[in-house]
Amino acid sequence: MSAAQENQVMTLKDWKELWQRGTTGFHQNTVCRLLEVNIDKVVAGRSGVRFFFPLCGKAVDMKWLADSGHSVVGVEISEKAIREFFEESKMSYSEEPVPSVPGAKVFRNTEKSVSLYQCDIFRFSSSLEGQFGAIWDRGAFVAINPKDRENYAALLVSLMAPDCRYLLDTLIYNPERYSSHPFFVPDEQVRSLFGSTCDIEPLQEEDALTEDFKNCGMDFLIEKVQLLVRKSS
Ligand SMILES: C[S@@+](CC[C@H](N)C(=O)[O-])C[C@H]1O[C@@H](n2cnc3c(N)ncnc32)[C@H](O)[C@@H]1O
Repeated sequence: MSAAQENQVMTLKDWKELWQRGTTGFHQNTVCRLLEVNIDKVVAGRSGVRFFFPLCGKAVDMKWLADSGHSVVGVEISEKAIREFFEESKMSYSEEPVPSVPGAKVFRNTEKSVSLYQCDIFRFSSSLEGQFGAIWDRGAFVAINPKDRENYAALLVSLMAPDCRYLLDTLIYNPERYSSHPFFVPDEQVRSLFGSTCDIEPLQEEDALTEDFKNCGMDFLIEKVQLLVRKSS
C-alpha cells in the first residue's frame, strides 16, 4: 500500500453524505465498457451466473446482467443509492429486514434477479447468500479504506464459489499527487492479497486520465482489469 494513503479514511457517514448531496461522479449512466468487453471471460460459457457486486452503488451493470439472464447480489451502505437503482431501472421492488444482521435491509426486485443488501460490506457473509459464480469489482476495492484491504480480500475470497471468476478493476496513479479515493492499488498488493488463493490474469489496461483528475493533480491514471480465478486445491 502507498504510505501517502495508508491512513486515509472515508467513513460510512461520508459515503452516505455523498449520495445525499448527489456528488457521485463515479456513477456511470451506461454499462461499464471494461465489463462489456470482458464479459465472455467472466461468464465463461455458463448461463444464469450469480454475480456479486461489492459496494454496488446504483451501477446500471446490475440491470444489464439481470436482463441477460444472470442474477445479482449487491451490498451498498446508501439506501438512497439502492432505491434510485430500482426506480431508475423501472423495477418494482420490496424490502425486508435481515434478521441475522441487525439494522440491515435487503431490497429485491419482483423477479428476484437483483437483491441489494443495505449494510456495511464487513457485515455481509456467505451465510446470507452463499457463494458466487462471478464478482464484478468496480469502484469497490479502490473505495475500501487502505487499512481494511486485508479484511476485504479475505471476505471476497470467502464469497467465491470454486468456479468463481472475479473481475477486479483497479486504478494506477502516483499517490503522492492525489491522496483521496478512489485509492491507488498497487499490483504487488493484489498479488499479495489474492495470489495464494487465486490465479491472476491481467486482461486490459486503459488511460483513464480525465480533466477532473488532472485538475486534482494527477499526471497519469491507468484503469486496469484483472481476472482472478480460484486455484484448484
Ligand atoms: C466509488 S462508489 C462505486 C459504486 C459502484 N460500484 C459503481 O461502480 O458505480 C463506492 C460505493 O461504495 C459504497 N460504500 C463505501 N463503503 C462501503 C461499505 N463499507 N459497505 C457498503 N458500501 C460501501 C458507497 O456508498 C458507494 O456507493
